[in-house]
Amino acid sequence: MTTAANTQPPARRRDDARDDVVLEARDVTKHFEVRSKQGTRVVRAVEGVDLQLHRGEIVAMVGESGSGKTTVARMLSLYYPVTSGEILLQGRPVKSVWGKAAKDYYAQVQLLFQDPFASLNSLKSIRHILGRAVKIHQPRLGKREVEQKVLGLLEKVALLPAEQYIDKFPHELSGGQRQRIVIARALAVEPQVMLGDEPISMLDVSIRLDVLNLLTRLRDEDGVALLYITHDIASARYIADRINVMYAGEMVEGGPSESVIHTPQHPYTRLLLDSSPNPDRGIESDQGSLFDEVGDLGEPPSLIEPPRGCRFNPRCPFAMEICTTDKPERTEVSPGHWARCHLHTVGGAEQLRAERIQFGVPVEQVEAELAAVTGDDEPHADVETSTVALESQTTDRIGGPQP
Ligand SMILES: Nc1ncnc2c1ncn2[C@@H]1O[C@H](COP(=O)(O)OP(=O)(O)OP(=O)(O)O)[C@@H](O)[C@H]1O
Ligand code: SF4
Ligand SMILES: [Mg+2]
Repeated sequence: MTTAANTQPPARRRDDARDDVVLEARDVTKHFEVRSKQGTRVVRAVEGVDLQLHRGEIVAMVGESGSGKTTVARMLSLYYPVTSGEILLQGRPVKSVWGKAAKDYYAQVQLLFQDPFASLNSLKSIRHILGRAVKIHQPRLGKREVEQKVLGLLEKVALLPAEQYIDKFPHELSGGQRQRIVIARALAVEPQVMLGDEPISMLDVSIRLDVLNLLTRLRDEDGVALLYITHDIASARYIADRINVMYAGEMVEGGPSESVIHTPQHPYTRLLLDSSPNPDRGIESDQGSLFDEVGDLGEPPSLIEPPRGCRFNPRCPFAMEICTTDKPERTEVSPGHWARCHLHTVGGAEQLRAERIQFGVPVEQVEAELAAVTGDDEPHADVETSTVALESQTTDRIGGPQP
């Protein structure tokens, strides 16, 4: 049966690992050239993103579809070369993606795929899939030692008793069990970093929490650094030590999870939180009061011709003149918590106040809006309820510790 223990929020990482940066993206940009009848156009998919992954830390990257999350993960996994900027592993810039350099890189950085079925060869047994990963990393091991390693990996991902799983084929396993095999295969090389691109999104809701708990155990026991990519800010809060928010190819906010969730500093983060599903609220109120007046929020912007200034300005209820011309700088709002929004730059809030009042918005309403987005109001609680919902949904449906 499910125990209360595996529905508790995972413990947070220790602060003594703070300076231990394993993998870093420094000011990385990715532009794709797309050829069509109209000629060659450039998709500005990722622009000037900074990201640090520390040992024993889970960092979430959240954002809506098309915001560039996968592209960042693919640059970090060297699948896409960066257009500009650099990737650093253990503080050293990664120059080559071929031969031994690539092999060394993948011995430390592993990608977890979204679809556990597509990423496993259905014609091969678990013994073969995991054994091959072990042998690539440790080619001198004999048959018996490889088998021991494979059994150890199955135990590590809680597929127990391991002997019952070793000769199965992927199609004989459930989605959650397959995702555990994907995680075990990544662990075979004893990596420092795992890049999880929506690793639970294709799993049944009843087994998501188990996989999240497994990932936090790997963080705590093995010191693995994990990038957790998701649309779902509630699961990000559940698992991550820090949350970064992507919008239209740019990182707009980042900081300790609790701080980002309770005092979001960017209007887009606020929108994500307000629209996070909450069974305790009606569908109509799910958009949240802050964005009620905006009505139809519209589509994310084109990345071929992104909006000038702040890319969120066509959808932002606070957009000021400066937002349509100048890109906001990164501003630290509390220790480790930053946002890119003109409301936080010197004079930004005053400018908004003046523009809104001139536009006829009542002073009290302007003050309430400002307080909401600059963190001076009551802590934001909606997503907490959503996390509880994630847990209770899962608790109701999990039959045991394994999917
Ligand atoms: N190979 C490519 N060629 C051209 N454009 C691309 C390519 N890969 C991604 N893009 C574009 O880059 C942008 C970001 O895509 P990306 O897949 O990184 O977003 P995402 O945040 O992962 O979205 P989702 O949540 O749907 O997975 C999108 O506009 C996408 O169309
Ligand atoms: S910079 Fe301007 S448009 Fe962008 S989020 Fe802040 S207030 Fe809104
Ligand atoms: Mg994606």
